[in-house]
Amino acid sequence: MDVHAAVSERTGSAPGRVNLIGEHTDYNGGFALPLAIPARTTARVRARDDGVVAAESTAPGTEPARFAVDSSPGDVTGWAAYVAGVFWALRDAGHDVPGADVRVDSTVPSGAGLSSSHALECAVAVTLNDLHGLGLDRTTLALLVQRAENHYVGAPTGAMDQMASLYGQDGHVILFDARAMTAEPVPCDLAGAGLSLVVVDTRVHHEHTGGGYGARRATCEAAAALLGVKTLREVQDELVKDVLAQLEDDVMVRRVRHVLTENARVLDTVALLRAGRPGEIGPLLTASHTSMRDDYEITVAEVDVAVEAALTAGALGARMTGGGFGGSVIALTAAADEARVGDAVRAAFDQHGYAPPSVFTVRPAAGAGIEESTQ
Ligand code: GLA
Repeated sequence: MDVHAAVSERTGSAPGRVNLIGEHTDYNGGFALPLAIPARTTARVRARDDGVVAAESTAPGTEPARFAVDSSPGDVTGWAAYVAGVFWALRDAGHDVPGADVRVDSTVPSGAGLSSSHALECAVAVTLNDLHGLGLDRTTLALLVQRAENHYVGAPTGAMDQMASLYGQDGHVILFDARAMTAEPVPCDLAGAGLSLVVVDTRVHHEHTGGGYGARRATCEAAAALLGVKTLREVQDELVKDVLAQLEDDVMVRRVRHVLTENARVLDTVALLRAGRPGEIGPLLTASHTSMRDDYEITVAEVDVAVEAALTAGALGARMTGGGFGGSVIALTAAADEARVGDAVRAAFDQHGYAPPSVFTVRPAAGAGIEESTQ
């Protein structure tokens, strides 16, 4: 047996996520309720001693990349920036990780709003953590991945996606409290309740490095400053109308109304799940969508058409999931209605002249981990 290879190589993987409810709340110190999905990204990492990272991916359209392990933000772009960013964040935090060969393989569709970028970053992070015995806990890894995303990739995102990917559990959604940085599993046995969670990838690709996401975040931060609080979470327990009365303009009022009402919808959803009533969360999901469409203004026509078609075909609730400006919609349906809802969305897309969506179901799956054979 090659003892050296056994200790210098690891394979780890991390899932994509669907957010059940709680959108654009994470960077406001609020609540979100994501689940890890069965689609995963695998990273095989073998240490090198020449200060180089050589990364390759089986994803179509990705070129192999070679870069210095001590690269700085801006040095590496494209898909490999997500890999480079994790090395950068670890080293910047004082962990002297060496170079590596990194081979990536993924079943998480990219640009679909299912957090393929965080699946990749978390897969690399957990694998490096294990390979080099860094002993970092999952919350620390999530914060490092957030730093990679914010400062290396340049997307001003919160920490929800990483927390979902790292803390996901089979059969559970994860109540993420962004102020406390806690991730609490909440049982969510959809199949046992005769329900399906249908995902419609609209194939309208989104980018969080674009201006829309950052502009929403900036407005919320400006509102918090105006209210004299660190984040909007600090005013969560006040009456929404009293908070809104202190704000400047209509856009700011609508953005803040979304965040405060969305936090409340997350907690209401958790209460129903804990009470064993998952079939009753549909109206909360749909209200979340309406709020994202009208108040936060982050949906696009294809997303709204998918939600309407799903609801008309009998879905119990439907909403866009993820950061917005494209991506995916989720619809909660009775298991028996799953195919009908999918067909209705496809037909609506056809009628509107949109490219066919990709429709599939997900269930809450396990979070990131190391493959036992390489431990
Ligand atoms: C993206 C970001 C998350 C979160 C969502 C919106 O997925 O990565 O941090 O802000 O958008 O809820």
